[in-house]
Amino acid sequence: MRLREAFKKHFLVGAAVDPVTLDTQRDLLIEHFNSVTVESDMKFERLHPSEDQYTFEAADRLVSLAKANGMGVRGHTLVWHNQTPKWVFEHQDGSPVDRETLLALMKSHIDTVLSRYRGDIYAWDVVNEAVSDSGSELLRPSKWLDIIGDDFIAKAFEYAHEADPGALLFYNDYNEAVPEKREKIYALVKSLLEQGVPIHGLGIQSHWSLHHPSVDDIRQATEQYASLGLKLHITELDVSMFAFDDRRIDLAAPTEEMLALQAERYGQFFRLFQEYSEYITSVTFWGAADDYTWLDHFPVRGRKNWPFLFDIKHQPKPSYWKVLETI
Ligand code: GLA
Repeated sequence: MRLREAFKKHFLVGAAVDPVTLDTQRDLLIEHFNSVTVESDMKFERLHPSEDQYTFEAADRLVSLAKANGMGVRGHTLVWHNQTPKWVFEHQDGSPVDRETLLALMKSHIDTVLSRYRGDIYAWDVVNEAVSDSGSELLRPSKWLDIIGDDFIAKAFEYAHEADPGALLFYNDYNEAVPEKREKIYALVKSLLEQGVPIHGLGIQSHWSLHHPSVDDIRQATEQYASLGLKLHITELDVSMFAFDDRRIDLAAPTEEMLALQAERYGQFFRLFQEYSEYITSVTFWGAADDYTWLDHFPVRGRKNWPFLFDIKHQPKPSYWKVLETI
């Protein structure tokens, strides 16, 4: 059974792709998914490596292949503290640009990118990971915040809405089910809504593992975010076989026990997604099958991971069958 058919009544089922996996995982992608996110080729440093240069080739190719196969595209991402080149924030002599200069540059980047893909991209992660993980501060330190001030987030959404009024605009973040961070994400989005900022959804990255976070924490976060009254997208789902501080590197393949536990977790997640499908309208995995994941060698060098529903040969894993049982 195709995933996209199985969940048709509930939400889109997506996968992150890059120029390599679009070839190596092509059949699997076309069979099971009806949405894709370009994993890295729409990030600022890829699209706009220097002031006068835009490089759209890789992103264009991914978007046209997705369209040719009837898949929607999520855009990722416009304003982020990471993978954004230094030239954005500095003059040639290394001195920092001022607020007006950076706002004008942000606007022209957003205009250029959104105009190019207008009508092709149904949702954009406008701002990624702006909230601080710990401490009392709401926003993490970044050049965007330093130079522009708190309203860099509101401005990014305003510019994006002007450039493509038809696209759904999302704030996207991780550790979204951790209570301390959940409260901050909630507070940020609530204040954007109160200011009348054109934000339509919250992207819940969902980089989870066999043990973390608890289903109760995920439920509480979903409940709280849903109370904001905007759309929720699961944007970067994967279920790592290892706890974040687990350093083991001895495994060449996942154990039976890991596979069973992963299936249990995926089953719980998909039951919950369906329960909240009035709010959750898209569920995207951060990859498609275990032959390629950003979690290979991260955060532990030399270690492979197996976070998806399909194995390294694109065959269904126990997790796949468990997810289908939830319907
Ligand atoms: C974050 C970003 C993604 C990607 C992952 C690692 O979640 O949002 O774009 O960089 O880290 O693949």
